[in-house]
This record gives sequence, structure tokens and C-alpha cells, in this order.
Amino acid sequence: MTVSPVTEPTPLASAVQKRTARPRRFLMCPPEHFAVTYAINPWMDPASGADRARALAQWERLHEAYLELGHQVELIEPVEGLPDMVFAANGGLVVDGRVYGARFRHPQRRPEGPAYLEWFRRNGFTEILEPAHVNEGEGDFAVLDGLILAGTGFRTEQAAHTEAQEHLGRPVVTLRLVDPRFYHLDTALFPLGDDNIAYYPGAFSPGSRAVLQRLFPDALVAEEADAAVLGLNAVCDGRHVVINAEATGLIAQLRRRGFEPVPVDLSELRKAGGGPKCCTLELRV
Ligand code: ARG
Repeated sequence: MTVSPVTEPTPLASAVQKRTARPRRFLMCPPEHFAVTYAINPWMDPASGADRARALAQWERLHEAYLELGHQVELIEPVEGLPDMVFAANGGLVVDGRVYGARFRHPQRRPEGPAYLEWFRRNGFTEILEPAHVNEGEGDFAVLDGLILAGTGFRTEQAAHTEAQEHLGRPVVTLRLVDPRFYHLDTALFPLGDDNIAYYPGAFSPGSRAVLQRLFPDALVAEEADAAVLGLNAVCDGRHVVINAEATGLIAQLRRRGFEPVPVDLSELRKAGGGPKCCTLELRV
């Protein structure tokens, strides 16, 4: 009797599955007035000496990376006296062409809400809701095909989740953030394609962790070391993942799953608590 050799599937077999990118439309704000002059999250220290010229150069590189990947980027005029306006993700939430406006928690950033709303009005958006509740736009909302994940605990009020659901007509699932380093949802979680996510469990309450496990049994679970360099503040187009270069463990995990990491250096903007995703608002039209 001859025994035919058993061929073990190689662990790489699943990793080489082809991922497909979908071109995106983004809104960004050049950090022309960037500075760290106040502290509204644990990353910020006005004594850190954030360098605006360096921040601008790093931001330019991010902008270029999007263009090289074939995405379309629109720009909003930065406003003097609003040093955090570079974090465009906080400027609103756009789903199916409908805009849910932002209402900032801290007085230092409050004028950004109307500035972004004005941009939407001038750029052809008509279904715009001026929010009644505090919410910091895509900073606290992650959009997937079937649902929107929403953070609360530090910035966005839970009532805003209901308000967004009503305006956008997509189910919104509330998640509770518990670690002040990860004060916005987008510092701890990002969508991987349209139906999966990557996240750092330590940022969430036990109940929210259980919700994420149930909704996304195949999620990419990130390590604290990668979360601690804001590695989860990444932008995935379905195939490429624009991500902080220091998040080396997460970058390797993404590669193993067949994604193509595009590392960027935003170390200067991290002094304000932001990374690539914070600088990027997706216009889903
Ligand atoms: N300094 C800004 C703040 O604390 C950083 C915002 C980062 N944006 C984000 N989407 N996580 O509000």
C-alpha cells in the first residue's frame, strides 16, 4: 500500500488573498497654523515644542501618499487661531452624501464646527444636519457597510449617536472608550475594508469589547505597543493601509492578512494626539 504525502496548507495561503482598493475622496486641512498651545488630551504638552515646519512637511507627504494611491483630496482653508484644525476627521461625518456636522467638546476647537459646515455648504452638500449634541465627527464614528461604530466616553455624547443614526439612516452601535490616551474612537479602531476592523481592546469597556468580539470575530486585534504610537489611527482603502511607521507589529499583522501597509511619519502631529486618520475626513458621496 502506498501512502500519498499529505500536503499541509501553508500558513501563507490565506495571506496572499487579493485585496481590492476602492478610490476615495478625502478632505484635508494643511497645518499652516498648527501648534500645541493647550492640552485637551494626554498627548498634548505645550512645552513639547511642536515644530510647524516639520508638521507641514510630514502632512505634505501624507497628502502625496493619498494622491499616489489614486485618491482624490480636497482641501479646506485653515483658520488662524485654530491650531488643531489640521485634524479634519473631526470636522464632520459624511455618509451617502449626507453630512452630520460636528460640535466640539472643548472651547478651543469649537469654532471648527461652523468652519467645516461652511465648507460642506459651499461644496455642493445639501443634506446637512447641524448637530444638537456634542460629537467630533469621524474621530468618533467609523463607517462600515452595514453599520456605523461610534465612540463615547471622552468627547462625543451618546445622544449624538442616535442623532447621527436618524440623519444617516444607518444603524449606529455605541462603544465606550475608557483609556484617556485613546480619547477618540479613531485612535483605537479602524475599518479594514467594508466589513471588518482592526482594534486595540484595552481602549474599550468590557461590554464594548464583548460587542466587538461578537460583531467582528475575525477582527485584527492590535497590541498595546502599536496602539501607543497611534498605529490604529490608520486609513484603509480596502487594500492599502496608510499607517504610522512606528507601528511595526501592526504593520506586520496587516501584511500577513494580505494588506499593503503604506507607512508615514507624522511624529510631529502626534504631539497633538493625532495621526494619519485624524488628518483625513472621508467624503462618502
Ligand atoms: N488635539 C486634537 C484634539 O485633542 C487631536 C485630534 C485628533 N483627531 C482625531 N480624529 N483623533 O482634539
